[in-house]
Amino acid sequence: MLPILKVAMPKGRINKPAIKLLQAAGFDIPDDLDDSRKLIITVPEARLQFIMAKPVDVATYVEYGVADIGVVGKDVLMEENRDVYELLDLGIARCRMSVIGLPDWTPLLNPRVATKYPNVASQYFRERGQQVEVIKLNGSIELAPLIGLADRIVDMVETGRTLEENGLVEMESIFEITSRLIANRVSYRMKNDIIQQLCDRLQAVIPGFETLKALK
Ligand code: PRP
Repeated sequence: MLPILKVAMPKGRINKPAIKLLQAAGFDIPDDLDDSRKLIITVPEARLQFIMAKPVDVATYVEYGVADIGVVGKDVLMEENRDVYELLDLGIARCRMSVIGLPDWTPLLNPRVATKYPNVASQYFRERGQQVEVIKLNGSIELAPLIGLADRIVDMVETGRTLEENGLVEMESIFEITSRLIANRVSYRMKNDIIQQLCDRLQAVIPGFETLKALK
């Protein structure tokens, strides 16, 4: 019998599309994984064990080898810079990382930038030779310019609804984000057959997956 693969699975927005994608690839997984409070869920039929993680921690679990593989946003990979293999672009949870501000923004000498992604933001402004003060927040980043904590924010934009409802504008898009399949370096060698098999099955369904979802 095949060994069980440990999968670090993000809770929240990526979870549902990731489960749907695995199901489309033929894995027999229940829809309601994220509804449970259980943190470790074994699905013997699929030979998978899910470690239900905070999205930002997925790459950490994989780097340390407590999960063999993981599903993680490119935003987290860019910010965390973990030592893992990036195996596949899953094409799900598509959004972008952007610089955002109030509509009446003016160029500032040393603007304050609030973000959940201090490394991404610092690198972006450093590369452009712009001095900024980065303020790390953990959520509701859009509040920062509204209440005068920061002049700009660097954050994810998906539908644009949060910006619209808070009167903010996207000033520049930094990079596109999709979810990626990552693997621990040792697991990738030791469990290569089973990981490769999973990749092949996912790869067969990825191209049509988002189109199919859009049609539903
Ligand atoms: C993310 C992001 C934006 C919002 C963008 O927040 O930080 O606030 O989603 O989505 P939209 O363009 O579809 O409105 P998230 O929901 O992860 O919560 P957070 O505020 O805790 O970061």
